[in-house]
Formats: sequence, structure tokens, C-alpha cells
Amino acid sequence: MIDIGSGPALLFLHAFPLNSEMWRPQAAAFADRFRIVAPDIRGFGSGASRVDPWSFDDVREDLFGLLDALGIERCTLIGLSMGGYLAFHFLKAHAERVERFVAADTRARSDNDPEKAGRDGMIAALQSRGHAALAERMIPKLLSSTPEAAVLTGVRKLIDQTSANSAIHALTAMRNREDSSQVPGQIQCPALVIVGQQDLVTRVEEARQLAASIAGSRLVEIPRAGHLSSLEAPDAFNAALAAFLG
Ligand code: MLT
Repeated sequence: MIDIGSGPALLFLHAFPLNSEMWRPQAAAFADRFRIVAPDIRGFGSGASRVDPWSFDDVREDLFGLLDALGIERCTLIGLSMGGYLAFHFLKAHAERVERFVAADTRARSDNDPEKAGRDGMIAALQSRGHAALAERMIPKLLSSTPEAAVLTGVRKLIDQTSANSAIHALTAMRNREDSSQVPGQIQCPALVIVGQQDLVTRVEEARQLAASIAGSRLVEIPRAGHLSSLEAPDAFNAALAAFLG
């Protein structure tokens, strides 16, 4: 978990199967003006001791409790991919705690049938082959076709910190998550949608549709970045975020 800096709070929710450390480039860029809070979702990073299955409702209430515990009344909520799915779920119940919203490389809808089948296949691979299946199956989906070596190494290192068991719980929670398709149309706070132009998980066209469904939102498409746009193109991601935060 990251909690550094002071000022208005930025709450960053990480992608699967990484952890809060993926937000270091943003913490470095914004901690001089903002309080950077990046929790570890159950089972990831400093939350690795949480070995039980979880649901999106559980994590939504973890986040609500965290804001209370840290004395944060309202935050800018920033979620990338799985973090974005969780952010939409949080907004549905606790919109009053969110003063600005950033949806990066993510979507509001739940999994469709082929995506659910994909989760089942991944869970089966983790059960039969263990942790090795995680990086092998995920890395090609997470980065652009030509990632920098340091980015690739960094992502692999974060994935290696995630156990097969934790990955299975997260995949199950994502598979079973409620649809939040109605949430974008209800968002009343300022919103930013970011997408890597080479995102293979949430494609640019889907991000455009998401931005079109949030009244008054901005869309930023990041060149030469895949799904993990904040890690692969941190300067462009941070510039988009800085312009949005003002
Ligand atoms: C993520 O980056 O969080 C995952 O790729 C999301 C997913 O598998 O749907």
C-alpha cells in the first residue's frame, strides 16, 4: 500500500494481477501536491495475507472503510482495468465520496460469456500448472507489441508477487461481478477516460464509447501503450492526469 504526500487525495486502484506498486510513477509525479493512496486489493501485495475468496462488495466496503480510516472525505478515484471495474462498483454505492473520476483501460459492463469462459480457462490453468501460468498468459495481453525491457521486467516482478490462489480469487470475483453499465450515465463529477492505443483488453473503440456515455468527460488515447498505459507510458499518462486535475 502506498500512502504518501499531502493535499487532496488521489485513490489509485491497481490492475490484475499486479499490486499497488504499479502506481509508483504516479506517486513520484503527484505526491508534491496530492495525497497518494494506493491500496492493495485483497490477496495482492501487502494484502497477500487475505487468502479467502472475495467479492466486489467486499472490496467496495474495504475501500469505504479505508477512506474513513484515513480521514478522507472525498477523493479523486482512479482505477485501471480491474481497478476500474472496482471503481465503477464503488461509485454505484458511494458516489458522494468521489469528487473526480478517472477510468483507465477499463469498462463498466460485466463479463460477457466468452470472457467468463476465458476466466474459467485461466482458473483451470492456475489450478493445474500453478503460478507460472499467470505471467505466461497475462503479459502478452497487458503490454504493447514492443514494450521497453525495463517495463517488461517490472511487470513480471509485480506479477511474480501474486500467488495462484490470490489470482484465482480475483478472477472469480471479476467473473461474478455485477454489471455497472448504468453507472457512466449517472456520473455527475468531472471524469477522464484514458486508454492505451494498443490496449488488447479494453480496446480504443470501447474507451471512446465509455467516454461518450459519461457527460462532459474527456478522453485521452495514449500512443505506443498497451493495457497498462500508466506503466508503459507514464509521462503521457501523468500529463493527462495533471491536465485533468488542473
Ligand atoms: C487487468 O488488467 O486488471 C485485467 O486484465 C482485467 C481483466 O482481466 O479483465
